Amino acid sequence: MAARTDVTQTVTTPVDLAEGVVDAVVVDHAVDLPVVGRTIVVNLARTPAVLGGPPTRPLLPFSSTILADATVEHAERVMLLRVGDDVSGITGAPQWCHFADLLPAFPRETGLYRGPRTLVGTTTFDPAEALGEERVGVPAEFEVWVNLWFAPEGTDCSIHNRHDFIEIHSQVHGYGRMQKFRADDHTTLYEDQLMGPGHTPPVPFCRTRADGGFSYPWHQYRADTDCVWLAVEYHRTGER
Ligand SMILES: [Fe+2]
Repeated sequence: MAARTDVTQTVTTPVDLAEGVVDAVVVDHAVDLPVVGRTIVVNLARTPAVLGGPPTRPLLPFSSTILADATVEHAERVMLLRVGDDVSGITGAPQWCHFADLLPAFPRETGLYRGPRTLVGTTTFDPAEALGEERVGVPAEFEVWVNLWFAPEGTDCSIHNRHDFIEIHSQVHGYGRMQKFRADDHTTLYEDQLMGPGHTPPVPFCRTRADGGFSYPWHQYRADTDCVWLAVEYHRTGER
């Protein structure tokens, strides 16, 4: 890599997502960052990260991989997650709860659990570009929030189509799917994105709306095995 001239300081911030089960940090302005052990690396920024080689290669915006004793040569903002094979205690970690405890209308019989949410910073980007739209939009500032979810094997986590933010998901443990539907009905499935550890579908599946909001198709997470996944939410600043 060519020598970089910026002198922005690297900042590493621990993020408490599931104490004792998942270790997570966010690293801003990473330069020659060593990644020790087997680690999921998520690019939270809209600029490509550069992973060490040989050969060096980009980690595209809103995408992820697993590194093992390797290096992030340069990144605007990445999240590093390390998890063991046993995640059975995750729903007992501090501040975890069944989603019905947060949203009373959510069905109690659906085994969906959420961990604590954390604001990890702000970022400015053109949401139209981020969503792959065929136009140039207006850059805006977004707050970046993260949390983990858990669902046991065989859980359909509920079809929904409303979010006031851009969301992406990174698989941390187990195998699941992000599914899209033509209606609030499982028989209307039209896309089935497989989720394995270290994977993030790189293009969020919402579109911008004229009023500044986001249009989502009907969608859900489906856990084929016990699953832990990371949700990253980009909220327009001041609208959370
Ligand atoms: Fe969603």
